Amino acid sequence: MAVLVTGGTGYIGSHTVVELLEAGEDVIVIDNFFNSKPWVLNAIQDITGKGFGFYEGDVADKDMLRRIFKDCFIEEVIHFAGYKAVGESVQKPVMYYRNNIDTTLALLEVMEEFGCRRLVFSSSATVYGIPKKVPVTEGSPLSAINPYGSTKLMIENMCRELCHADDRWSVALLRYFNPIGAHESGKIGEDPNGIPNNLMPIILNVVSGKTPILSVYGNDYPTPDGTCIRDYIHVVDLAKGHLAAIKAVRRDTGAMEFNLGTGKGYSVLDIINAFEKVNGVKVPYVITGRRAGDAAQCYSDPSKANKELEWKAEKDIEQMCRDAWNFLQQHQR
Ligand code: UD1
Repeated sequence: MAVLVTGGTGYIGSHTVVELLEAGEDVIVIDNFFNSKPWVLNAIQDITGKGFGFYEGDVADKDMLRRIFKDCFIEEVIHFAGYKAVGESVQKPVMYYRNNIDTTLALLEVMEEFGCRRLVFSSSATVYGIPKKVPVTEGSPLSAINPYGSTKLMIENMCRELCHADDRWSVALLRYFNPIGAHESGKIGEDPNGIPNNLMPIILNVVSGKTPILSVYGNDYPTPDGTCIRDYIHVVDLAKGHLAAIKAVRRDTGAMEFNLGTGKGYSVLDIINAFEKVNGVKVPYVITGRRAGDAAQCYSDPSKANKELEWKAEKDIEQMCRDAWNFLQQHQR
């Protein structure tokens, strides 16, 4: 009996594989290293001292999926694999739909063939679009404001419809807020291929001299310091949320949505200040114009996950900044 993790060498995937192995689960990973690196496999083994199965390939490859389901007794799937860069999705919408939707359809079809009907899906707070009210609850209005967000929303809808059509299915739709930080060992963390788009990887590039300065996208928002507010969550807390979700899909059937966030909002300047304070480094920045599509504020009400999953984010913003920097120092090349 094993948990299949698609995209298990990626940022959130690798931290989740560590938590699963440490909880005594058998794990099979599938990844094509589109946005991750093979060394992550060894790093996971180093941290946990445990082995796991690995298949290199594309989740849309149904023959490979069938081989995995034949070889291993898969009871649950955690589906991370997918493209995730918002800007790129606007430039290449068809590529995003083709990849994110195709992989999920292939996975759902093969899961059904093998009678495996428990899924944890890597959704995103992006399904709330630009929230009209914060904190956002699972009942807040859903909308997609870019192709990446559309793929997340389409997959959520697909899963809800599937659970409605067949009550043997159970699917946890986990809406992540803003994961940052890294494993405390410093052995795994966020290591995006190419130019990063998200705040923390950009801060890391700036402090390591790869990028001269951080552009803070706007300080004229209706927030206390004028910069945007987000719900940053430590990636290890987020990974633990997947363990809790696995228990939930074992226990219950149907589609269940959960916000995985801390419930606390921090501004861009709060993050810069925390990073400078705990790590004793300067983050040079300049205030520039707003980035299209940014919400002034987006933070979660995580009480449903706190209650129903018996899960709560525990690590604070300082720990997130410390662990992010620790990872970078160990991996500066
Ligand atoms: C972005 C995506 C969102 C996606 C999420 C996780 C957009 C508009 N939104 O969210 O759909 O779910 O990533 O992948 O791309 N910031 C700067 N300077 C920078 C980078 C970011 O000031 O160089 C600010 C942003 O304005 C934002 C905050 O930092 O206020 C966080 O940005 P980011 O890490 O990109 O996350 P989101 O905007 O929340």
